[in-house]
Amino acid sequence: MTHPIIGWEKTIPVPNKYYFTSYLNARNGRLHFEDLDLPQIFLGDQADQGLGQTMPSPLEIVYLPVIRQRIAQMNRVFAEVSAEVGYNGRFLYTYASKANAAEEVIRTTLGAGAHHEMSSTIDVDIARLMIQRGLLPPDRLIICNGFKPEGSAYATNIIRLRQEHTPVIPVLEDLGEIAPFLNAGLSFDVGLRQKSYGPNTSEAEIEAANSRFGLDLEHLWKAAAYIAAAPNLNLTLYHYMVGSQLMDDDTFLAYLKPGVDLYARLRQRYPTLHIFDFGGGMPAPMTLNFTFDYHGFARKLLLALKEACARYNVPEPDVMGEFGRYTTSEHGAHIFKVIMAKDNKSNHPWYIIDGSIMSSFPDSWALGEHFIVLPLTHLDKPFQRVQLGGITCDSDDVYPPKPSQSPLYLPVETDELYVGFFSIGAYQEMLGGVRGSKHCVLPEAYELIVDREGDGRYQSNGRYQFDILTGQKPADVLHNLGYAV
Ligand SMILES: Cc1ncc(COP(=O)(O)O)c(C=O)c1O
Repeated sequence: MTHPIIGWEKTIPVPNKYYFTSYLNARNGRLHFEDLDLPQIFLGDQADQGLGQTMPSPLEIVYLPVIRQRIAQMNRVFAEVSAEVGYNGRFLYTYASKANAAEEVIRTTLGAGAHHEMSSTIDVDIARLMIQRGLLPPDRLIICNGFKPEGSAYATNIIRLRQEHTPVIPVLEDLGEIAPFLNAGLSFDVGLRQKSYGPNTSEAEIEAANSRFGLDLEHLWKAAAYIAAAPNLNLTLYHYMVGSQLMDDDTFLAYLKPGVDLYARLRQRYPTLHIFDFGGGMPAPMTLNFTFDYHGFARKLLLALKEACARYNVPEPDVMGEFGRYTTSEHGAHIFKVIMAKDNKSNHPWYIIDGSIMSSFPDSWALGEHFIVLPLTHLDKPFQRVQLGGITCDSDDVYPPKPSQSPLYLPVETDELYVGFFSIGAYQEMLGGVRGSKHCVLPEAYELIVDREGDGRYQSNGRYQFDILTGQKPADVLHNLGYAV
């Protein structure tokens, strides 16, 4: 197996107009995010791009057009494949807000037409704010995953949301979750979540799976019967999700197959059912050698659904995916400045950056996850193999992550050398925490939100528009930790 490719793996300069990804490209030795000249944001040495100032390092960059592009891409894939195979259900692109719940992200996914998936009670508050602002229109489905036992704040808040928005679908994880909605005094479309995992699993294997998510088979059929008998509940959705990212379409489908069959069997008995929700797990490019056949996956899934539905003589369902990582991975970047190049006869020189890798990207040290790392400046100069070190005193604050086989090359020239971590927009900020107190009391970076198209807030003129969120000041950090300042 080849190692994950995380950057430029050569000592020679990067050729002019070289594209690392569809959006990251080198022009005259400077890294661009689409057309945005990234070094200019810090150095102010070229024509102003609409920002009117320079920004301090470290800096988080949130590039919203990529979110719209990814949603449009997946909608296109399913539209094309549906037409090719003559599929009769709709495709329902749904954003899984747990990947990144920032206001500008939710606003952008909704603006791009996505349905909305959530997992906790504060998520409900976010949805209500979006409804009040007219950004979450009445035709959008809201899928409520996550534990919601009777009496919980989440169950109560979902019921309140339903009073303001009709298509709210609680997805039930456990028999005990039926009661709050049964007794809500409102009609509810509901979903059922199946305990799963494993490729082409048999019923016995589903039963044996050790998962805290979803219902076992006995409880699945029981829940469906209770719901059918309830005057105010309507079973509309069946949720069968693969627990982790699978990097090839055949394996992904093999994991989903048992759920496809179970959907058709449930639909035979309960004709209100019409959505097959395959949940999350859609891979996204986080390294430069990523490949995944989205068309192939969509084709295999729709054909499997067609085949199972024909076998059980039931209509083909609407197909829902809850896209978290896929939607938001690539819109996020985090830029640091190299503040020291240190050659202490280690295997490769250490480049020390002005922030923390481990607290900015917890998955890199907790899971050994790889992200793309590229210089913003000096791409037209020679490179050398290096190691990156964060500014904390922690031995795990390094990149590539410790067990990695991936080499990292950066320019030999370290004067005004900025480096960016890319494809970090999903989960990293939510796991690391926003506005908290960080490891080694480092303050949170400034954030630059970039857009260039109209979505109600920004005008479309092809130029960039920017919003700046101020980083933490020393007094904010001290105050957060209980110091009177
Ligand atoms: C129920 C549910 N839906 C969707 C997702 C999003 O998954 P992904 O980021 O792989 O798209 C998750 C992730 O944990 C999840 O638990």
